[in-house]
Amino acid sequence: MEFVLLLHVLIVIIICPSMIVNSCNSSSLIAMKSKPQPPVFPSNFFFGTASSSYQYEGAFSSYGKGLSNWDIFSHEAGNILDGSNGDIAVDQYHHYLEDLDLMEDLGLNSYRFSISWARILPKGRFGNVNMAGIKHYNKLIDALLHKGIYPFVSLTHYDIPQELEDRYGAWLSPKVQDDFRYYADVCFKYFGDRVKYWVTFNEPNVAAIRGYRSGIYPPSRCSASFGNCSTGDSLEEPLIAAHNIILSHAAAVSTYQTKYQKTQGGSIGIVVNAIWFEPISNSSKDKLAAERAQSFYMNWFLDPIIFGRYPVEMQQILGSQLPAFSRKDLNKMKSGIDFIGINHYTSFYAKDCMYSQCEQGPGVSRSEGYYLRTAFKDGIPIGVTTEVDWLYVHPLGMEKIVTYIKERYNNTPMFITENGYGELNNPNSSVKDFLNDYRRVEYMNSYLDFLALAISKGADVRGYFAWSLLDNFEWISGYTVRFGLHHVDYGTLERTPKISAIWFKQFISNHSNLAST
Ligand SMILES: *[C@@H]1O[C@H](CO)[C@@H](O)[C@H](O)[C@H]1NC(C)=O
Ligand SMILES: *[C@@H]1O[C@H](CO)[C@@H](O)[C@H](O)[C@H]1NC(C)=O
Ligand SMILES: *[C@@H]1O[C@H](CO)[C@@H](O)[C@H](O)[C@H]1NC(C)=O
Ligand SMILES: *[C@@H]1O[C@H](CO)[C@@H](O)[C@H](O)[C@H]1NC(C)=O
Repeated sequence: MEFVLLLHVLIVIIICPSMIVNSCNSSSLIAMKSKPQPPVFPSNFFFGTASSSYQYEGAFSSYGKGLSNWDIFSHEAGNILDGSNGDIAVDQYHHYLEDLDLMEDLGLNSYRFSISWARILPKGRFGNVNMAGIKHYNKLIDALLHKGIYPFVSLTHYDIPQELEDRYGAWLSPKVQDDFRYYADVCFKYFGDRVKYWVTFNEPNVAAIRGYRSGIYPPSRCSASFGNCSTGDSLEEPLIAAHNIILSHAAAVSTYQTKYQKTQGGSIGIVVNAIWFEPISNSSKDKLAAERAQSFYMNWFLDPIIFGRYPVEMQQILGSQLPAFSRKDLNKMKSGIDFIGINHYTSFYAKDCMYSQCEQGPGVSRSEGYYLRTAFKDGIPIGVTTEVDWLYVHPLGMEKIVTYIKERYNNTPMFITENGYGELNNPNSSVKDFLNDYRRVEYMNSYLDFLALAISKGADVRGYFAWSLLDNFEWISGYTVRFGLHHVDYGTLERTPKISAIWFKQFISNHSNLAST
């Protein structure tokens, strides 16, 4: 560990020699990092930032909004690290015009956000459409388009009406497919004349794993050896939830295709959380383990959606425990997708646990695919460590995961729908400390370099959304982690650009010029 820390310090010193005395400014950093040949992004590439309703909006119980699963969960003591919630979050509901000015200033041409399902349908399909919610998103969409910023909209980003949880157990019941189809239809109908990029689900793999295997996200369900929940079944329920999510996705896509796509002319896809799994050795056992890791983590969703079947490794290991698709399901799933959204932050090693003995650990169980997920090899981390325990800086992973998805899914158009760097909200740090976020600049710059490399080798990537425009509510970490290009003072809600915002603006301006010449 000491070696690693030393290495990190050395890297910082090399990049930015005067940083130690806190006088290294952005231009010297940027000058040091610039390359003779800047990476080329396709013309009309989307540069944007990403957000989600629960992490940003606030106004959690006003203007007709119903309560969501996250409203209920965050109000239960002990669920959120700092005891906070998203009641106010960064109050984008009231501050969206100010935030649009920040986006315009950065030169962004797109904004990824999610619609709060419970704001549109407080009681799911068992109640009315909340017209105040429709009006709010209409104003947001119109204001974006007025500035030339394209809306890139997720229908759900973890938060769903609590009503559906209470009535029938949400994702555990096939009934949820009707609710999701209905909700998607309402959104296409009211917003689809102007929204040209739709995402059905954000990171359904994380929602299924954390909601039903470890139980650390709502609805807090798991069984004993996987977590600390009052009820649940960590073996069966993630598979059932995933199955209903996949079929809900298919229902929304086929609704879009049959009723809206011809006239509205947009496209629709899904966003997965994508980790690059590096085999811990070159042995064929570890290479197969890395393949299984992808299959049980990401291909779990993408294979059925794109190929109409679960990954072969899952079928082999889980057998009849894996839910089956009926002929009718398969017919509906034929609709496929127009693009794959990739949320990529970090890489891990994968070590075989199918043919070799492993101690308990993440990934090791049969239901996870018999591999050990670890950041360390011989005591050395896969990338520079950060203040966020799961985040290791391994920019090469960006090229590898994009290339992997390109090859497996026949170069379906891709967007990097999230990528970003987090820092702990250390109460001893001053605002100035947070604004000098050179490590975020370093992270984004290197990940974008490797993204450009993948593109230059033929990957059809059409956009990059930084996570995130603002510091915000980071799920179970509450406000203890900051991921923003802008600092947010949670007392006053004041937004202040960090060095990374200034850097991203320059990066976009450099590369947009290139695209237009
Ligand atoms: C499990 O949850 C119960 C009830 O919330 C709590 O009292 C207990 O301390 C928890 N145990 C662990 C190991 O976290
Ligand atoms: C695997 O083999 C490649 C090519 O020979 C080599 O570059 C790489 O370092 C090896 N990786 C490991 C983990 O041994
Ligand atoms: C903040 O400073 C106090 C006093 O110097 C110290 O005890 C504490 O560990 C610091 N907190 C963090 C999170 O660094
Ligand atoms: C933008 O281009 C200028 C001029 O080539 C260069 O000095 C600067 O480092 C670039 N900045 C970024 C963030 O790419």
